[in-house]
Amino acid sequence: MTLRVAILGASGYGGAGLIERLSRHPDAKLEAVASRAHLGRPVDDAWPHLAGLVPLSFVDAEAAIASADVVMCATPHGATAPLVRAARAAGKRVVDLSADFRLDAETYAEWYGPHPHPELLDEAVYGLPELHRSELRGAAIVASPGCNATAATLALAPLAAEGLLGQVPSVTIVTGASGAGRATGLGLHFAELSENARPYKVAGTHRHTGEIELALGRLAAQGKDSRSHGPRQEVRLAFNPVLVPMSRGILATAVARPERELDDASLLERYHAFFDGDPCVRVSSELPQTKAVAGSDRALIAVRWDRRTGSVLAMCAIDNLGKGAAGQAVQGLNVAFGFDETAGLRLGGVWP
Ligand SMILES: NC(=O)c1ccc[n+]([C@@H]2O[C@H](COP(=O)([O-])OP(=O)(O)OC[C@H]3O[C@@H](n4cnc5c(N)ncnc54)[C@H](OP(=O)(O)O)[C@@H]3O)[C@@H](O)[C@H]2O)c1
Repeated sequence: MTLRVAILGASGYGGAGLIERLSRHPDAKLEAVASRAHLGRPVDDAWPHLAGLVPLSFVDAEAAIASADVVMCATPHGATAPLVRAARAAGKRVVDLSADFRLDAETYAEWYGPHPHPELLDEAVYGLPELHRSELRGAAIVASPGCNATAATLALAPLAAEGLLGQVPSVTIVTGASGAGRATGLGLHFAELSENARPYKVAGTHRHTGEIELALGRLAAQGKDSRSHGPRQEVRLAFNPVLVPMSRGILATAVARPERELDDASLLERYHAFFDGDPCVRVSSELPQTKAVAGSDRALIAVRWDRRTGSVLAMCAIDNLGKGAAGQAVQGLNVAFGFDETAGLRLGGVWP
């Protein structure tokens, strides 16, 4: 049976990535796309690169929800929870790219304010398939992770699962402009973005910090195949992002100081073993770079032992719109509905 899918927020970057992937998905049919700004107009109106390829016009959220078996939300946090509630009330399953169902109510309140629909949180499974694959099967709400959180968590996950994070691991990311979505602000103006590297939301103020700490804390307490609402250890992370003039891409540089000596070979072996059987992660001794994942739904990870400082260096590159957004959401949908995990995805990217 073909799964009927609707996309809310289909005029944004995450929405475009979902349209592309669902249009080539062997087991799903893109039934409806919703947008307020482009209501009643064809997909071409928002997306020139899809002109003539997707025979749909934008409808409102209510019509989109009614038409599908599963609703994918690529809408802002806060605005998404009521849409998810409407979808659940109509008996539809949901894949959500926003932050609204990734955290418990207490952590959500700390980073985003009071949760609009805490009664739905128990239905949500954290949608990082590498860490929650069994739990995702049949999930009512797949809470797809943030882009920065994906890169940081994957970089440190094998260490967290073995109690090798040390006291306060740190992650610095460089990230491209599309991470902020299609709506522009002054900082994304070409003249301000180009030839510039601009730190933002540093020193424990970026909202993804709480999400990464939860994911690593669950790994530390439960190991790889963890439960979203299961036990977790307290983890504190130093997380600092830097905006650089790229359209897409994230490179996360993680440093952890475990309380024991390690070496390159044993670290690489641990990382290979941890991600064994994960089709959207490639571990290698080659340092990852953002161009190698542009347009790709795969994360590239490398790990090294820094003998001089007794620390682990782990690096992860993803396309924030691929493994960091639409690719991951479709991967989560695939696991939740029992399809081939990589259906509709593209593992290789585009070069140059
Ligand atoms: N960009 C990334 O790298 C990335 C990665 C992971 C997760 N995410 C998350 O994915 C979601 C979408 O991000 P994005 O980058 O695609 O953002 P975006 O480009 O700004 O698109 C968001 C879309 O949501 C719609 N929208 C805005 N406000 C709305 C509201 N109040 N009610 C209903 N629809 C509304 C808008 O369409 P209309 O105005 O036409 O309705 C807009 O096109 C966000 O929650 C974001 O945090 C983004």
